[in-house]
Amino acid sequence: MLAVVPPPVTVRVPAKVNLHLSVGDVRPDGYHELVTVFQALSLTDEVTVAVTEDPGVEVYGEGEGSVPTGANNLAWKAAQALAAHVGKADGESKVRVVLRKGIPVAGGMAGGSADAAATLVGLASLWKLDISRDELAGIAAKLGSDVPFALYGGTALGTGRGEQLVPVLSRHTFHWVLAFDQRGLSTPRVFGELDRLREEGTPPRIGSHTPVVEALASGDPRQLALLLGNDLQAAAVSLRPGLRRTLRAGVNAGALAGTVSGSGPTCAFLCADAQSAVEVAAELSGAGVCRTVRVAHGPVPGARLVGGDDAP
Ligand code: C5P
Repeated sequence: MLAVVPPPVTVRVPAKVNLHLSVGDVRPDGYHELVTVFQALSLTDEVTVAVTEDPGVEVYGEGEGSVPTGANNLAWKAAQALAAHVGKADGESKVRVVLRKGIPVAGGMAGGSADAAATLVGLASLWKLDISRDELAGIAAKLGSDVPFALYGGTALGTGRGEQLVPVLSRHTFHWVLAFDQRGLSTPRVFGELDRLREEGTPPRIGSHTPVVEALASGDPRQLALLLGNDLQAAAVSLRPGLRRTLRAGVNAGALAGTVSGSGPTCAFLCADAQSAVEVAAELSGAGVCRTVRVAHGPVPGARLVGGDDAP
């Protein structure tokens, strides 16, 4: 009897921006203790998973040439991890993973983590697994610090390595302009640069996350704009001094505030409303300080099946 091959499954998954990213000390495992407030943005990747006799990863779109397609690809590792978790033998877990990138590669917006989260959700559906999002988050946390957030989306407080999440009330849709840089930045390098700067001197540390959480609850972008903060920004700017110009150009173009997103080099500009974001994006495009400009809003949900129900 012929086995019925299930149809491919596509998942849409958001990028993140850190509204607040406070970096603590290095832990014995080499990671830094973090307190961060994430927001998921309408800038997305689409990931399609399909049963195949020819397993592998394909990448199309934004930065496709710089994404590894072998065993190093985080989406591929996610597929392996999920298969191992549910005890699927090699022969039963042959999949093709197709990544359509809208999120910049090595841009500080967790694009690789997003693809891993989407692969988990896609395969859970393709393989008809009875598995909750919380159980997927356990697998996600082992893949990378930002992978659990990409599963849930919304706005959340992350602690530990960033993988321990609690949702944060956000009463408003916030409007953002994103400036992609010419090249990516390596996350470990940026953390390493922060360690170096801290050994040399005392770059100022951002304060508590509480005011950011209060501003999100108030829904006032002007209040939130005053509070955006990222301890990694000094390190990203030290490695890529041109980001200073980009950050200035966004504010000169009319944004309320700008911040380096995560470990950079993408700069995220908070705008007063949707109309202002379009105007800031147009002006920033002409300023010659970045490769590409995008408009996005947040918060948006985490990894979701396209054209299907949302289980798990
Ligand atoms: O967890 P993930 O693989 O995304 O992290 C990438 C790198 O970023 C880590 O290898 C580490 O160098 C750095 N990192 C860190 N502390 C964190 C998260 C990431 O030092 N909390």
